[in-house]
Amino acid sequence: MTKEAGQEQMPAYTEAVKSGLYAKQSGLVGKYDNVRRHWEDEVTRISFRPHLQKLIDRCQASMKRLRIMDLGCGSADGYELLTGVRERDADLQQLEVDILSDQILGLYKGIDLNEDLLNQARSIYSDNPKMIFKQADFTKSLPIVGDERPYDLYFFSFGTFSHHNEDETAVRLLAGIAERVENYAVVVCDWLGRYSYEWQSLWTRDPDEVKNMDYVVSYIYGPEEREERRDQLQHLTLRLMSRGEAEGIIAEANKRAGVEIRPLKWFDRSVFSGRHMDTAEYNPHAQPLRNAINSLHEPNLRTEMDSLLVNYVPKGGFDFLNDYFEHLQMCWNVLVRHVAQLMEAFDEENRTFTKEPPDVPISCPSALRDMMERMEQIVEGVGWLGYGLPRENIIEPQLGYALRHLTSNLQQGQGCGHGLVGIFEIDKSESGD
Ligand SMILES: C[S@@+](CC[C@H](N)C(=O)[O-])C[C@H]1O[C@@H](n2cnc3c(N)ncnc32)[C@H](O)[C@@H]1O
Repeated sequence: MTKEAGQEQMPAYTEAVKSGLYAKQSGLVGKYDNVRRHWEDEVTRISFRPHLQKLIDRCQASMKRLRIMDLGCGSADGYELLTGVRERDADLQQLEVDILSDQILGLYKGIDLNEDLLNQARSIYSDNPKMIFKQADFTKSLPIVGDERPYDLYFFSFGTFSHHNEDETAVRLLAGIAERVENYAVVVCDWLGRYSYEWQSLWTRDPDEVKNMDYVVSYIYGPEEREERRDQLQHLTLRLMSRGEAEGIIAEANKRAGVEIRPLKWFDRSVFSGRHMDTAEYNPHAQPLRNAINSLHEPNLRTEMDSLLVNYVPKGGFDFLNDYFEHLQMCWNVLVRHVAQLMEAFDEENRTFTKEPPDVPISCPSALRDMMERMEQIVEGVGWLGYGLPRENIIEPQLGYALRHLTSNLQQGQGCGHGLVGIFEIDKSESGD
């Protein structure tokens, strides 16, 4: 092929790059790293599944399709999260497992203040007539215009609700949503957790002392580049939230709207695995655990087991938090060490353990005991496989899921993770069930 002929082929590649489909998706770094995709999105999906199912059932019972408003939608991240919620007990042979199918979705409206992100969303989804994107500021008012019908689901994901730096705007928005509900709606809010270990230096006994944090977007760079670019890093002002404070905001919105916004679930998302664990910007003792978890889920990459061990450093005067984090740290480390010992004790040639697998203490919380037993079955089941890198590609990702299960089961929904998530319902139907 002549050079000119070769050049002629280039627009095809340029077009492919522009489409975004050629973007390199690295699991180790970036917005959509492995923790985001395999832990954060999935934990949110699992927690939300029964409530989404109930919402879908209600819509179908009244012959309606589901209308979703995603506030602070970025590049339609909420759409991707919600359409990935799967049936819990799908059979192995079942292919259709998403509960929010295209037949059930009526409309997805994404709202964001950032036009670039909206354009990115439009460039991906412009051919889907059920998806619309609008620029609006949700701290000013609820972005519903004229006779626009109310929505069934109002979704704020990944810290978006913390963009309300004043509680008044948060109360006004929630009250506005509650007032517009005709029959039934669900609201999902996600704030930055006040007591995440990532920002232990910001913990105060009186929450009014530090309401908003100066959140530096430094995690998108590696350690060296982060320091080189320190002066150019972007900062966000974001509200830190505990469960008690969030309940206060909800109570105020209830009063204002004269309707109950009822909590269905609170949960701490990303305990020990938030993005600022790796930067240690707000806690000199924070360890790069997100990096280590990303490595667990990265194909063909072997993870140093010691890099997963947590050494929680307590903060004086916060016994209730120290007790929680120390208990979690103990359980987490027991599981990591257990898997390291199992791998050491497994004889690949004879397909058996050379010594008895370590005992699972009866005093362990049941979530830990379950995960230890499952990991034993996994090592025994695949340790001899040989091909396909069983440690890197099967055992390590399973350890990732086991740690995820453990933290999800031990969380208490108090604001101890990177995110505090609240799922609420507003029920004006006669049954009020
Ligand atoms: C932490 S990001 C979350 C993005 C996305 N929901 C996700 O799950 O990745 C917060 C989003 O809220 C948007 N945002 C911030 N303040 C806003 C406001 N006052 N009104 C509307 N959108 C806002 C930002 O542009 C950004 O896309």
